[in-house]
Amino acid sequence: MSQRSLWGSKVGFLLAAIGSAVGLGNIWRFGYMAYENGGGAFLVPYVVALLLAGIPLMILEYTLGHREKAAPPLAFARIDRRWETIGWWMPTIAFFGINLFYAAVIGWCMNYFCFSVNQAWGADTGDFFMNTFLQVSDSPFELGGIRWPILAGTVLTWVISWAICFREVNHGIEKASMIFMPLLVVLTLVLIGWALRLEGAWPAIKEHYLTARWDKINPFTASGSKVWVEAFGQIFFTLSLGFGIMIAYASYLPKKTDIVGNALITSVLNCLYSFLTGFAVFGTIGFMAASKGVPFAEAITSGPGLAFVVYPEAINQLPTGQTIFGMLFFLVLIMAGLSSAISLVEAFCCSLIDKFDFDRKKTVTWVCVLGCLGSVVFTTRAGLWILDIVDHFVNNYGLVTGGIFECLLVGWVLKAAIARKHVDQAGGVKLNKGWEILVKFVTPAILILVIGFALYSEFS
Ligand code: PHE
Ligand code: NA
Repeated sequence: MSQRSLWGSKVGFLLAAIGSAVGLGNIWRFGYMAYENGGGAFLVPYVVALLLAGIPLMILEYTLGHREKAAPPLAFARIDRRWETIGWWMPTIAFFGINLFYAAVIGWCMNYFCFSVNQAWGADTGDFFMNTFLQVSDSPFELGGIRWPILAGTVLTWVISWAICFREVNHGIEKASMIFMPLLVVLTLVLIGWALRLEGAWPAIKEHYLTARWDKINPFTASGSKVWVEAFGQIFFTLSLGFGIMIAYASYLPKKTDIVGNALITSVLNCLYSFLTGFAVFGTIGFMAASKGVPFAEAITSGPGLAFVVYPEAINQLPTGQTIFGMLFFLVLIMAGLSSAISLVEAFCCSLIDKFDFDRKKTVTWVCVLGCLGSVVFTTRAGLWILDIVDHFVNNYGLVTGGIFECLLVGWVLKAAIARKHVDQAGGVKLNKGWEILVKFVTPAILILVIGFALYSEFS
């Protein structure tokens, strides 16, 4: 077997990992969650979730990948052969459950990037999105044909992912991340700066994003406890945990590595990106609400509605620079999305390559062809329906089960103490015993609670 390739530099690895973590969710989900769940007060459950579950699990995934030098299936099998199936679960869910629709959504962003040129979405952006662009069918069972512009963007996304993952990580993903990530940061800062100067931006940011509504996060009320559970769910999703991605990325780290330091940097920068981007979102929506004279609560939303309906509406209201503002915004989404999409492709391909000793080029080619074919269902008129259903299950159950299993595997089968020793030997920041307790008891217990809560809300 040929020598396993390694990241060319620490920065390269970090940018790739942050690239996976920083995705569409940071932009269109975090701010709205904060808004709904206590504004500034939401930072408390969010940071607690980051400390109690996000960072410990990030360290765990890095340790697993680094120690076993393999993606989940082989890494799990090396610890205990009976666990291999579970090792397949994570990257498979990531690929079929997220990657396929993520590619289609990036395809939407590419279309909207072009629409920005002349605000092709017109005055009624909601009607345009649903009826002209997506032409959403009446039910998830009515596919109703392919939307060709969406298919074109989706295929382009797969071609780009293929071209990047085709090469060894240090040439492909690392080089791409070294370009995408600095650019993403600069463009995001421009968007934030622009938004802050719009009329009505600051009052909206202060009132709806930053003002703490403490009563909302009281864990002893029904709605307050839900906020805590959602904060934990969001932390896993935002850090790309539970899919085996960080395991695969860490498997290419050199022997001497600061595992804890890297985990801290990745996690903290991802969350900081979300927090800062919130200023752009709330500033822009605040401006739009003020200039149209509608209440903020009616203007704000999360997910695709925010990016494809509300943002275009805000752009329509801009006094100047509509074209540039729109192109900037959708370019930010495209880059944040692509750097996450390639991590999904890599986790799945790396799993196959490690386990079966396949050739990288052939594997990536086949996987991308398969992925592209699978994505077609999300480019039909039922795409939005199916996306909602898949997203719901993957988000609420898929990644959390992955997280529980890795805690059990590392905490109990391998033994947390052995994992901790490995971290110490790799060098850098040392772990203390508290991490063992988190990984063995606290994090899995919280994750089980999150699943329990999701199941409960499903049937109530
Ligand atoms: N972390 C990404 C986000 O916040 C989503 C993602 C999850 C991407 C898992 C890849 C894998 O949007
Ligand atoms: Na994220």
